[in-house]
Amino acid sequence: MADRRLGVGFIGAGFIGQFHIRSFEGVRDADIMGIFDVDRKTAERAATMAHKLGVGQTVIHDSITDLVADPAIDAVWINAPNFTRLEVMQEIADAVTSGKGELIGVCCEKPLGRNVPEARKMLELAEEAGLLDGYLEDQLFSPSVQRGKTIVWARGAALTGRPYLARSAEEHSGPHMPWFWEGELQGGGVLNDMMCHSVEVARFLLTPPDAPREILTPVKVTAHTTCLKWQEDRYVEQLKEMSDGKLDYSNRPAEDYAHGVIEYRDDEGRPLIVEVTTSWCYVGAGLRLSMELLGPEYSMSINSLDAGPKVFFSRNVTGPIGEDLVEKQNAETGLMPIVADEEGEYGYTGENRHMVQSFLAGRRPAENFSDGLNVTELLMTAYMSAEQDTTITFPPPDLDTFIPAVARGEWNPKEQS
Ligand SMILES: NC(=O)c1ccc[n+]([C@@H]2O[C@H](COP(=O)([O-])OP(=O)(O)OC[C@H]3O[C@@H](n4cnc5c(N)ncnc54)[C@H](O)[C@@H]3O)[C@@H](O)[C@H]2O)c1
Repeated sequence: MADRRLGVGFIGAGFIGQFHIRSFEGVRDADIMGIFDVDRKTAERAATMAHKLGVGQTVIHDSITDLVADPAIDAVWINAPNFTRLEVMQEIADAVTSGKGELIGVCCEKPLGRNVPEARKMLELAEEAGLLDGYLEDQLFSPSVQRGKTIVWARGAALTGRPYLARSAEEHSGPHMPWFWEGELQGGGVLNDMMCHSVEVARFLLTPPDAPREILTPVKVTAHTTCLKWQEDRYVEQLKEMSDGKLDYSNRPAEDYAHGVIEYRDDEGRPLIVEVTTSWCYVGAGLRLSMELLGPEYSMSINSLDAGPKVFFSRNVTGPIGEDLVEKQNAETGLMPIVADEEGEYGYTGENRHMVQSFLAGRRPAENFSDGLNVTELLMTAYMSAEQDTTITFPPPDLDTFIPAVARGEWNPKEQS
C-alpha cells in the first residue's frame, strides 16, 4: 500500500467540504476522485474547485452507493450535516458489506453523532464494515497546537511537572446555514456545535505526547448554557429572515453561549482542569480560537486572530462584504487580522495528511470514532449539568439514552427565568 495513492470520495461538499478540498493542496499521496452531494450544483462547484486546484480528477456520483462502488475510491469523508450522519454511515456500511464496493477507511466530521446512541452506532457501523475510522477534529492538528504542545511538554513539563490547566474557546458570530440553529437537526446549540472542538483540544493538550487517551479520566462535569443574543427581538427577526420563517428563536431557541469545566484525574491521580467556552455571539473581526495550557512554571497561549498579518482600511475603502480576510469575518474596514493559510492554521491540512497516511499504512488514525464517541459523552454530560444546574459525576447512569432538551425542542431560557 505504501507505494500507492489514496483515492478519496467526499459525501457532502458544502462549506466544510470545500475547506477540505482546499486543504488537499497540502496533502501528499491522495486525490479527491469523487463527490456525492444531494445538491448537484454544490457538487459541481466543488468538483470544479478540485480540478482547478489540481487535487484530483473528481467525478460527480449520483448516490453514496455509487461513490463507494467506484474502484477509484479507497476512503470516504463524511461532510454532510449532523442530521444525516446515521443514514449516510448506514449506506456506506451496506455498500461495503454487500460487496458493492471496497473501502479502507471512513472519516467523519464533528460531531460524530447528535447524542451518545448516534455516536455509538457510527462506531459500530464502521467496525462491522471492517473500516478504519478517522474523527475529523481539525484543531488537534493545528500547527500552533502541535508545536505549542511539543515545546511545553519537552521543556516546561519535563523539567518542572505536567500541565494542570487547559483553557480553550471557540467563538464567532453565528453559523452560516439555518440547520445549525435548529436544536433537533443539529443536536443542540453552540455547545454541541463548537464545544466538541474545545473539549477535545484541551484534553489533547493535557495528555502527554504519545500517551493514550485513557491516561486522563473524566471525573466531573459542570456546565452552563444560555441564550445571550439571539432571543432579542431584532435578532429573532434576523434568524427568521435567513431561514424563510422556519427559525423561531422566541419560542424554540438553542443556546448561543456555553461554558463548562471538566475535572480529570491523570494516571497518578492528580487533579487536572479543563475550562471551555463557546459562543455564537462573539462579534470581533471573525472566528476566534483561543487556547491556554498552564503548568507549575510555565504557560502557553494561542489566539488565532493574533497570529498573522494585520491590515488597516480607512472608511474610504468601501466594497462588497466577504470572508477573504478570515472565516466568519464581521467587517471590511478598520484594523483587521488576516489568517494567511486558514486550512493549514485551523488544522485541516495536518488532519487530512494524518488520515491519508494512516489509511495508506493500514493503521487506525490517532483521532478516531472512539474519540468522537468520548467527546459526545462529555458534551451530553455538560448538557445534563446545565439542565440540572449542578455538577455531574462522570459517567452519569443515563448517558446512553439522554437527548438534550434543546434537541427535543423543549428548552427555552426565557421560560426558566
Ligand atoms: N471542523 C469544523 O470546524 C467544521 C466547520 C463547519 C462544519 N463542520 C461540520 O461539517 C458538517 C457539514 O457542515 P457544513 O458547514 O459544510 O454544512 P453545509 O450546510 O454548508 O453543507 C452541507 C452539504 O451537505 C450536503 N448534504 C445534505 N445532506 C446530504 C446527504 N444526505 N448526502 C450528501 N450530501 C448531503 C448539502 O447539500 C450541503 O452541500 C457538519 O457536520 C458540521 O458540524 C465542521
